Amino acid sequence: MPEAHKHILLVEDEVPLRAAIAEQLTDRGYHVEQADSGEAALARLSDFAFDVIITDLRLPGINGVDLLDAAVARYPDIVAIVVTGFGTVKDAVEAIKRGAWDFVSKPFQIDELLHALDSALEQRRLKSENAYLRAQLEERYRFEGLIGKSPAMKRLFQLLETVAPTSSTILITGETGTGKEVVARAMHHSSPRRAQRFVALNCSAIPETLLEAELFGHVRGAFTGASGNRQGRLEQAHKGTFFLDEVGTMSVALQTKLLRALQEREFERVGDSHTIKVDVRVIAATNSDLARMVADGQFREDLYYRLNVIPVHLPPLRERKDDIPLLVQHFLEKLSGDRNDRNDRERSDRAGKAAPERPKTVSQEAMRRLMAYEWPGNVRQLENAVERAVAFSAGRAQIDVGDLSTEIQQAEEPVLPSAVALPEEGVDLDRFIAHIERDLIQRSLERTGGNKGAAAKLLGLKRTTLVEKLKRLEK
Ligand SMILES: Nc1ncnc2c1ncn2[C@@H]1O[C@H](COP(=O)(O)OP(=O)(O)OP(=O)(O)O)[C@@H](O)[C@H]1O
Ligand SMILES: [Mg+2]
Repeated sequence: MPEAHKHILLVEDEVPLRAAIAEQLTDRGYHVEQADSGEAALARLSDFAFDVIITDLRLPGINGVDLLDAAVARYPDIVAIVVTGFGTVKDAVEAIKRGAWDFVSKPFQIDELLHALDSALEQRRLKSENAYLRAQLEERYRFEGLIGKSPAMKRLFQLLETVAPTSSTILITGETGTGKEVVARAMHHSSPRRAQRFVALNCSAIPETLLEAELFGHVRGAFTGASGNRQGRLEQAHKGTFFLDEVGTMSVALQTKLLRALQEREFERVGDSHTIKVDVRVIAATNSDLARMVADGQFREDLYYRLNVIPVHLPPLRERKDDIPLLVQHFLEKLSGDRNDRNDRERSDRAGKAAPERPKTVSQEAMRRLMAYEWPGNVRQLENAVERAVAFSAGRAQIDVGDLSTEIQQAEEPVLPSAVALPEEGVDLDRFIAHIERDLIQRSLERTGGNKGAAAKLLGLKRTTLVEKLKRLEK
């Protein structure tokens, strides 16, 4: 595609040459503006974002190199092409170093210049397409505040997208720190209820005796200390989302009252007979195994089904280690953002602003340990570990193994013990390797419930390769 609608600033002090180039470019559909000096060009640049600047390096007054510097500083994406005098390759090299895309030496054929221009514009187009793709990819690894690229998280994002527009009840399960509350908030923020309130109630944080009043509200004198009328959390969430956290810790008596409230979407404040109706979306979360609690008679079966309309399970971090590098990066960016905000505030009374701090990098070895560790506290623990490492690496741009806690430093990728010992009498290498291969294939199939695609991925193989190997092993 000829990039015809592009705006070009042409800077050349030799009038006939400038006119000839301008004519050729205009014929090809470019919008061309001419300047006869560096000063005039700077003035034009200050109020118009040209796509391209073509400049002679030898100009009276401000020379081409300074002009180039100013243009690139102001418009980092500008395509700059410089025209140099005969035999001044050194100048051309200097210009390229400072951000010019290409150069042509006088005397030149107009086609030479046009060719340089076309290819520079093409390269720039590809470069910005690349940046766009990268940005898009990054988008796909996020859902509201949630980060993840593991298959489990990608499936979760898809599910969240599907159920976000509905008002269906959701039950989020997962170990501590896996992100249950983040998911609940993400659901609310991507639902049509986002402009209304998100009200959370953590059942385990409130004494059982007060939980009912907290949930449904109370009237004056309903119990000792109830000095006035008060709205419950369920009522506060009207039109919005109600997040019932740690629902597994609720007493069976209160479960019965909750069930009715959820079924009828109506309830009474404690000590009152007036019925209140609400329109809420309910999201519940738990780190206990509710199905087992139902079997043990600790959780009402009907309430379980009422909550478990759409089950969302967050796998522990150790089962989705591909997410670790992305999460680490996310927390590093978050922390450096916080620090820059703080620095800005501290500096606000003084003049001038220091360059923003860049997020730290993580050495390969440190990342290897982070990925080998088992993370019993899941994402929350990872976030704390990153924060600690940032503090310990103060003054350095990179986080190293020594900045991690001893526990994490000691994390080792599992090594197959049989793979390191060489028996006295030697070994039949082919048979030995075949044995290991068979063992790993079997274990990966077990772990993925027989899913060959997923097993192949675990082994870093193509699915077809795994299938071939299986055929060979069966013989
Ligand atoms: N996928 C994720 N992307 C980004 N941050 C996450 C993610 N998952 C969890 N976090 C972060 O980890 C921390 C713990 O998350 P959250 O409070 O949602 O966990 P939880 O499952 O509710 O834990 P608990 O059972 O202990 O209440 C939060 O600081 C959250 O920001
Ligand atoms: Mg929580």
